[in-house]
Amino acid sequence: MSFLHFIRAQYKTLPMTLGPADCQERTFIVTGANSGLGYECAKHLARLGSSRVILGVRSREKGEAAKKAIETDTGCDTNILQVWEVDLGSYESVAAFAQRAGEELHRIDGIIENAGTAETSWVEKEGNETTMTVNLFSTLLMALLMLPHLHKSAKQFGIVPQLVIIGSGLAFQAKPIWETLDIGNIFEDLRDRKNYPLSKLLLTFAYFEFARRAAFSRTGVTITMVNPGACKTNLPRHLNSIVRLQVGVVLSLIGRSAEIGSRTLLHGLTVGEEAHGRYLSECEISEEWQVRVWEDVSATLEKACPGCLDVMSNE
Ligand SMILES: NC(=O)c1ccc[n+]([C@@H]2O[C@H](COP(=O)([O-])OP(=O)(O)OC[C@H]3O[C@@H](n4cnc5c(N)ncnc54)[C@H](OP(=O)(O)O)[C@@H]3O)[C@@H](O)[C@H]2O)c1
Repeated sequence: MSFLHFIRAQYKTLPMTLGPADCQERTFIVTGANSGLGYECAKHLARLGSSRVILGVRSREKGEAAKKAIETDTGCDTNILQVWEVDLGSYESVAAFAQRAGEELHRIDGIIENAGTAETSWVEKEGNETTMTVNLFSTLLMALLMLPHLHKSAKQFGIVPQLVIIGSGLAFQAKPIWETLDIGNIFEDLRDRKNYPLSKLLLTFAYFEFARRAAFSRTGVTITMVNPGACKTNLPRHLNSIVRLQVGVVLSLIGRSAEIGSRTLLHGLTVGEEAHGRYLSECEISEEWQVRVWEDVSATLEKACPGCLDVMSNE
C-alpha cells in the first residue's frame, strides 16, 4: 500500500455492514472486548440485538466495567453480555476458554479474535516474547481450538459461522526484519526487533496457510483476516515512551476512531465463502496486491506475447 493510498484509506467513511438481521438470535465472541476496537465491536453487536455476546477479557474487573458501560449505552438486557476470562499470555487459559465455549455455547455464529498487544520491554510468556505469544501463537491456538465448535454449529444449525482474525497494515513494515531472520529458527532471535509488526507479519503468513488448510468446503466456517487501519486506541500503552509519543502524534493526525475501526471487524462477520482466506481492509475484500501484481505482469506479458492471456478467459 502506498503512503498516499494509506492516508486516503484512513479518511474513508467506512460503512456499517452489519444489521439487526445479522445479529438477532445469534451468539458472538469478542476477545479483548474491554477496550478499543473490541469494546466498540461488542457494543455494536449488543446494540444490533445479538442474543449473546461473550466478552473475552483477561481482567474480570475491566470486563465487568465494559459490560456495564455497554448496557448503559445500548439499553440491552443484562443477560446478553457475559464476561469470560481469557489470558492470551497463557496457553492453558486459551484452551480453558475454548473448552468452556464448546461446553456452554450450543451455537456460535462468530468469533472475533481481536485481543492483541504491542510491547517494547522484553518479557517472556510461554517461552516467547509476550507480543509474539499473544498476537501470534495464542491467536492461532484459539483459532484451532474454536474451529471444531464453529464447525459443529455450521452442521447443526445450517449456518456459516465466522472466524475473524485481526491483522495489521503495520505487518508489512516488518518485511526488512523478515529478510534478516534465520528462517527455521525465527523465534530464537527476536531481541531488538520491532516485535509488534513482526508478530502481525508472521500471523498474516500463518493465517493464509491456516485458512488454506481449513478449507471452507471441509469446515463450513469462513476464516478471514481483517486490517482495521490505524485507530486511536490504548494499543501503544506498553511501548517505550519515545515510540509511544511518535505513534500518538501519528494517530492524533490520521487515526480512525475506535468506533469507525470496529466496523472493519464487524464486516468480517458479514462475508461469505468468497472471503475465506482473504485479507479484508476498509470493509472490502482487499485485492490490492494480487490484482495489481497480476495486472502489471499480465499486461507486460500480453505485450511481449500477444494472446498468451487467452487461456485465462477460457477458465
Ligand atoms: N489501534 C490500531 O491502530 C490497530 C491497527 C491494526 C491492528 N490493531 C489490532 O486491533 C486489535 C485491538 O487493539 P486495539 O487497538 O483496540 O487496542 P487496545 O485498546 O489496547 O485493545 C487490546 C485488547 O486486547 C487485550 N489484551 C491484550 N493482551 C491480552 C492478553 N494477554 N490476554 C487477553 N487479552 C489481552 C487488552 O486487554 P487489557 O485492557 O487487559 O490490556 C484489550 O482488551 C489488536 O489485535 C491490535 O493489534 C490495532
